[in-house]
Amino acid sequence: MRRTGNKTIVPFKAKIVEPIRLLPRAERIERIIAAGLNLFNLESRDVYIDLLTDSGTGAMSAQQLGAAMMGDESYAGSRSFERLAENFSRITGLPYVIPAHQGRGAERVLNSVLVKKHQIVPGNSHFDTTKAHIEFSGGRCIDCTIQAGKSSQELHPFKGNLDLVALRQAVEEYGAKHVAYVLITVTCNSGGGQPVSMQNMREVSAYARSRGIAVYLDVARFAENAFFIKEREEGYADKSIAEIVFEMFSYADGCTMSAKKDGIVPMGGLIGVRDQGLFEALKTPTILFEGFFTYGGMSGMTMEALATGLEEVLDEDYLRYRVGQVAQLGAWLEEEGVPIVRPVGGHAVFIDGRLFFPDIPEDEFPAQAVCVELYKEGGVRAVEIGSNLIGRNPDTGENIRPAMDLCRLTIPRRVYSSEHLEHVVDAAKTVLDGQHSRSRGLAFLKEAQGIRHFASTFREL
Ligand SMILES: Cc1ncc(COP(=O)(O)O)c(C=O)c1O
Repeated sequence: MRRTGNKTIVPFKAKIVEPIRLLPRAERIERIIAAGLNLFNLESRDVYIDLLTDSGTGAMSAQQLGAAMMGDESYAGSRSFERLAENFSRITGLPYVIPAHQGRGAERVLNSVLVKKHQIVPGNSHFDTTKAHIEFSGGRCIDCTIQAGKSSQELHPFKGNLDLVALRQAVEEYGAKHVAYVLITVTCNSGGGQPVSMQNMREVSAYARSRGIAVYLDVARFAENAFFIKEREEGYADKSIAEIVFEMFSYADGCTMSAKKDGIVPMGGLIGVRDQGLFEALKTPTILFEGFFTYGGMSGMTMEALATGLEEVLDEDYLRYRVGQVAQLGAWLEEEGVPIVRPVGGHAVFIDGRLFFPDIPEDEFPAQAVCVELYKEGGVRAVEIGSNLIGRNPDTGENIRPAMDLCRLTIPRRVYSSEHLEHVVDAAKTVLDGQHSRSRGLAFLKEAQGIRHFASTFREL
């Protein structure tokens, strides 16, 4: 039993449980080979601890399930949407709300209206579906994350921040009218689950507005970002999470949200906007792609659970436990010598694949190899956020070499105990001790097109 690190108070107890099992090692090896060394191809029943994602995997509360029973399933004018939209507007200050089935649904609707061919969207390490939707609408993403956010070891309290110099350069180079909008992702997923400071949001917004450019937030993990601001940024220690969240949104013209993270629901998404004209323009694509604009792919039950989840996620005790649990896993891994991205972000611990397997060449997917070994060793399912995920340059077709090649251990909300996370640490330590001198990685068996990490398969070299 590990005893070091911050002990957090867990502000809930279990009422319903779901059985899980650890397959014998020989069967795990059989399963991962049959899956083409791609962890997305595993059956969930063959996974002991599932750290693939924090998206839609959180445990709902008794209050959320109770609220769900009040769901109004009316096609139009659902009472549940009214409650959800009221809650979201009160929390964010954004008066107009459009529902979507999940984050990428919201991204498709918003980008289909905002992005014109050849326009750019500068931002901080756009999430993969966001990038894909901007490109699908004819736009290009320009990554303006600060340098510290691209290094796994450089310590910085807000590694998700945008570099204002890089942002200005992009705007100068393309011209303000060729900038569809600036996107700030809070917290920044691809860059390590790292927060963005309030000061950075304020400065980015002031600059963008001075050039007549709109600012949008991708707010999948807005409450976790707010907690980091409270903990780390001067002047915010005495503010409530709700006050911090409200200020964050004040710097934006609108947002998209995957509600599967900080909404703590299995499915759902939202768009919030300030402008009534834009709200009207979003209705038709919502009807085309998502559903009528008072449900957008969510059931009344989901909308009720989400309306309650948005209230629960602002609870400071919950956020302290949540961010504390992720930090605890990071501290334990570091104690065992596992190289991780520092400081630890809000929803995941990232193992640096290139440092974990220093002898595996960069183009042989070291982080994917870490994911495969963790499954073989402990039945743990992680996900690669690196060379495989980032894919090829759409103009040249060449493999993009990402700044970091990471294996992400993503922690579902309110699901796993310390014992579960200790098992993960033991598995990582065993792999590290036994295989540090491994010199070959993986090669594609079949390379999928587009977002390739979901479907590509590999062989061991
Ligand atoms: C920052 C961010 N934006 C957007 C999305 C897409 O959301 P969804 O999976 O609900 O489509 C995700 C999902 O992980 C995300 O992390």
